[in-house]
Amino acid sequence: MIMKLFNNKFLYLIFSIFISIPIIAQEESINQIIEYGLKRAENQSLILAQELKNREHVLPRTYENNKLQTIHYDHWVSGFFPGVLWLLYENNQDTQFRKYAELYTARVEPAKQMTNTHDLGFMLYCSFGQGYRLTRNPHYLDVIKEGTNNLLARWNPKLGVIKSWERKQWQYPVIIDNMMNLEMLCFMSQEFSDRTYIKVAETHAQTTIKNHFRADYSTYHVISYDTITGMPHAKKTAQGYADHSSWSRGQAWGLYGYTMMYRETLNPIYLEQARKIGNFLISHPRLPKDKVPYWDYDDPQIPNAKRDASAASIMASAFIELSQLDPSDMAPIWLETAQKQLRTLSSPEYLAEAGTMGGFIIKHGVGDLRSKNEVDVPLTYGDYYYVEALVRLKKLISRPTGISEREIWIKKMTRIATPVLENLAAGTLKKNMPFESLSNDSLRRKASYLEAVGRTICGIAPWLELGSDNTKEGKLRAHYINLVVKGLRNAVNPKSPDNLMFNNHSQPLVDAAFLAEGILRAPTQIWKKLDNQTQKWLIEKWKESRNIKPFESNWLLFPSIIEAALLEFTGEYDAKRLNYGIGRFRDEWYKGDAWYGDGKDFHLDYYNSLVIHPMLTEVLRIMKKHGLPEADFLPIQEKRHSRFAEQMERMISPEGSYPVIGRSIAYRFGSFHALADAALLHLLPVEINPAQVRCGLTSVIQRQLSRPNTFDSAGWLRVGYAGSQIQMSEEYINTGSLYLCMAVFLPLGLPADDAFWANPSVEWTALKAWNGIDVGTDHAIH
Ligand code: GLY
Repeated sequence: MIMKLFNNKFLYLIFSIFISIPIIAQEESINQIIEYGLKRAENQSLILAQELKNREHVLPRTYENNKLQTIHYDHWVSGFFPGVLWLLYENNQDTQFRKYAELYTARVEPAKQMTNTHDLGFMLYCSFGQGYRLTRNPHYLDVIKEGTNNLLARWNPKLGVIKSWERKQWQYPVIIDNMMNLEMLCFMSQEFSDRTYIKVAETHAQTTIKNHFRADYSTYHVISYDTITGMPHAKKTAQGYADHSSWSRGQAWGLYGYTMMYRETLNPIYLEQARKIGNFLISHPRLPKDKVPYWDYDDPQIPNAKRDASAASIMASAFIELSQLDPSDMAPIWLETAQKQLRTLSSPEYLAEAGTMGGFIIKHGVGDLRSKNEVDVPLTYGDYYYVEALVRLKKLISRPTGISEREIWIKKMTRIATPVLENLAAGTLKKNMPFESLSNDSLRRKASYLEAVGRTICGIAPWLELGSDNTKEGKLRAHYINLVVKGLRNAVNPKSPDNLMFNNHSQPLVDAAFLAEGILRAPTQIWKKLDNQTQKWLIEKWKESRNIKPFESNWLLFPSIIEAALLEFTGEYDAKRLNYGIGRFRDEWYKGDAWYGDGKDFHLDYYNSLVIHPMLTEVLRIMKKHGLPEADFLPIQEKRHSRFAEQMERMISPEGSYPVIGRSIAYRFGSFHALADAALLHLLPVEINPAQVRCGLTSVIQRQLSRPNTFDSAGWLRVGYAGSQIQMSEEYINTGSLYLCMAVFLPLGLPADDAFWANPSVEWTALKAWNGIDVGTDHAIH
C-alpha cells in the first residue's frame, strides 16, 4: 500500500526512515524490537562479511577513526564475528549466513594450539562451539577438544584457578572475565561424559567466589595469586577506573559466568552468586534509567562518563537466562531489565544506522579506557551478546511448547541421578556415598545404598525405556541405560564391592520394591538388557526379601510389587504376598475421595502419593496383564488415582511450593509421585490439561532444587526440604532415602510429542485462581 503511494523509491525511503525512528523511540512491542534488531544485525553483518571475505586470515575487531580495524585468530575477540553469523543463521536458516559463518569460523582454527591465553573459551566456543551446536560437524568438535586441552595447560589444581595472563607484575593473575571460558569446559564434560573438565570449571568458579568479590558483590577485575601460599597477593584492575572500582564489563562477565555455571551444574551456590551480582548491578544508584551502564560504575565523571554498550549486551543476555533459571520473584525483574537494555540498544542512539560503522551493529562500546584504546566504538563482542540476547529472548517469547522445559527436567533429573548411577557402575557407591542422617544405626547405613539405587531407578526408568537414538537426548539416554545396566550387575553380584543388602533389616523390603517398580517401568531397556546371570542374582535378591515381614500399612504394597515383578519376569510368584496388601486397601482401608488410610488409620501425609496409588495401580496392571481375577479392582483404583492426581495438581501453589505436611517431607518433590505417575499413564482427568501439570511441576522442581545446600560439594542430595534441614527428617531418613524425589520425573517417559510436553504452556489451577481466573468448583468422587 504505502509503496503504491510512493512510486518514487527515494520518497518511500525518506518516508520510512521518518516514520520508523519515532516508532522505535516510542514503545514498540518487544517482538517488534527483536525483529527490527535482528534484521539490522543481518544487514550489517553481511556488509562486514562481504568486506573481509577475500582477506584471508582476517577477522573484525572494531570500527575506529572511520576505519575497519581487524585482527587475526590469536586476538581474544577472534571468535565473536563467526559467532554472530552462527546466531543469525540459527535464527534465519539462510545458507548465505551459514556459508559465511563457516568461512570465518575456519579463520579462528589455529587458536586451538595456543597455550598463552585463557581466552580460548571466547575464541573457540563462540565460533566452533556455536557452529557445532548447530551443525554437529565432527571437525568442530575436534577443534574444541584440542583447544580445551590447551586451556587446561593453564590450570593449577593447587590454586584452584586457570591462569589468565602472563604479566611480569603479577605471579598468577586471574581476571573475572575468565568465568566466561568455563562454558567450554562444561560443554566438554557433557559431550564426552567425562567430569574432569567440569570439575575444573567448578573449582575455578568456587575459588573466584571466594576471592574476587567484595561484600557488596561487586567484583575486582584482577586477582593475582601467590603461588606458594595460594592466597591472593594483589587485587587490582587492568581496564577499570581503579582497583577498588566496579568496571562494568567485568561485572557483566561475572553475572553471565555464574548464571551459565548454574545452568550447567544446577549448583544453587552459583544461582545465589548470579542473583547477588544481578542485584548489585540493577539496584546501583549510578545505573542509568535506560539500563546501559557507564563504562565503570565508579568513574567520578558520571553522569558525563562514557557508557559501555558491550556491558549492557552481556548483561541483557545473562539476565534473560537468569530470569528462566531463578524461580524467585526476582525473575520478572531480570527479564524486565534485559528487555529495557535491548530496547535502549535497539534505539537509534545505540543501533548503528544501516550501512554505517563498517557493518558493526552496536555503537558506544568501551574496550579499554585506561589505555585510551577502543573508546566509544562498536565492539565485536558487544554485537555478539546483543544478537545472542535477541535470539534468546525471541526463543523465550515464542516458546510454544514444553520442549525446553523437557530439557530442564532432563538436566535436573540427571544431575540428581548421576552420583548414584556413576558410582554404582564403577563399583564405588559404598565407598563414596555419604550417610547423612539423624540415625547412626550401622544397618541403616548398609541399607541406604539400596535406597539410593532403587529409588533413582524407580524415577529414571520410564525415560530410559524410550531407548537410545541419534538425537542428543537419545545419546544421553544410551549413556544412562548403560550406567544402570552395568550398575545393577554390581548391585547383585556377590563379588562386587557394591553388592547390596536385601535382607537383615526391614528397610531393604522397601527398596527392593522401588527397584521392582523401576524395572517394571523399563522392561526393555533395563530388564532385557541385564545379562542372564544378573537377572538370576536379582531374582534371588528379590526372593531373599520374602524373609522380611511388612508392617500393616503402605508397607504391604512392597511385597505385592516385588511379587508382581517376579510374576512378570519369571512367571512364578507368591500369591499370598502379591494379594494380601491389595485386599487390605481394597476392602478395608479406603477412606473416601481418593484417600486411603495408611493401614487402618488415616494419615495426613504424602504416602498416598509416595507409595499407595502408584504401587496399587502398577500391581493391578500387572495382574490384569496376567489375567488374575483380583485385577477387577483396577478400574476403580484408576479412577481414584486420577482423582488423587487432580487434588495434587491443586496443591501446587502459584509460586511453586506445596504444603509442608506429614512424614517424610525430605522426599521433596517425590511427594508428587502419584501425579507424575498419572501423567505418565495418561490417567489425568480430562479437565486437566497435561501442560498445566508440566508447568506446575516445573515450578516446584525449579524452586526446590534452587535452594542453597540442596546438594553437597560432590553433588549428593542433602537431607532437607528446601535446602539442608536435617531436623525435618525422621530417624529412618538418610542420604539414600532422599532419592525418592526422582519419582517426579516419570513424565519424561512420555515422548516429546506427547501432549504433556507438546502443549503450549498454561497456568496450573492455583496460579489461575490467584490471578483472578474463574477455575470452577472441585468435587469429591463417590
Ligand atoms: N576480556 C577482555 C575484556 O573484556 O575487555
